[in-house]
Amino acid sequence: MKDRRYAHPFRDLRARIRAATSVCVLTGAGMSAESGIPTFRDAHSGFWARFDPMQLASEEGFRAEPQRVWDWYEMRREGVRAAEPNEGHRALAAWAGRHPGCLTIVTQNVDDLHQRAGGGGRIIALHGHIMENRWLDPCPKAEDMMRRPCDIAVAEPGRPPKCPTCDNLLRPGVVWFGESLDYRDLSAAEEVAASCDVLLVVGTSGAVWPAAGLAARARHAGAHVVIINPEPTEIDDEAHIVLTGTAARLLPRIFDPL
Ligand code: OAD
Repeated sequence: MKDRRYAHPFRDLRARIRAATSVCVLTGAGMSAESGIPTFRDAHSGFWARFDPMQLASEEGFRAEPQRVWDWYEMRREGVRAAEPNEGHRALAAWAGRHPGCLTIVTQNVDDLHQRAGGGGRIIALHGHIMENRWLDPCPKAEDMMRRPCDIAVAEPGRPPKCPTCDNLLRPGVVWFGESLDYRDLSAAEEVAASCDVLLVVGTSGAVWPAAGLAARARHAGAHVVIINPEPTEIDDEAHIVLTGTAARLLPRIFDPL
């Protein structure tokens, strides 16, 4: 006999969201694609179709060619500055505003489009923030409790900027391949995944861990898991339903005007 539970996936999902006390949305690069920011793994337009991630998104790559990597991030920053939140970001933000304390966005995106869309919902940025910088190496002054580490505001302009005292280089405030996620951010994301009623996974290929593992964690803990993506993902098996389509088209259909 046909399973009729999801015969009306949007109606069913909207009912679940209406009844939920905690909704978590895990987002990836596809969330910002309709704002004009390229994804990583899409066949022609993705960054990793054109660039080697180990050269541009690893500490080794940065140390080998700091200027090249800095310039690549400056180019991406320009793209982020020029972009605007799309209808998907706005639908989530509006729902968060109407349901204070109910929405947590866990994003792998380093752009600030969820933040700029507003709404006041909690946002956990697992892979950092592209518009921020930090020192490449620990500041030597930080080893001495009596001294303050050098302020990144004093860095001498350059590609990349450099500390006038220690020669330390500035690097983008993102998580690179081979680096650990911030422990507090990851624990917070895991906690939300394990306690939410509904998890929506939007615009991620599910190729990068530990973010990809949040879908299985949520499902095992009893959440209703929904994937929104125009293409198949590596974690489709974790979902109760897969909605084929884009973030800017489907999220307003799901969240407006709940
Ligand atoms: P990917 O580039 O791996 O995947 C993007 C996903 O978005 C794909 O599954 C696309 O099908 C989907 N997509 C494309 N357009 C979409 C749209 N308009 N609406 C919804 N989905 C769409 O990006 P991520 O999964 O985010 O890490 O990649 C994860 C991490 O790998 C990134 O955070 C980045 C990357 O290397 C670091 O830089 C550390």
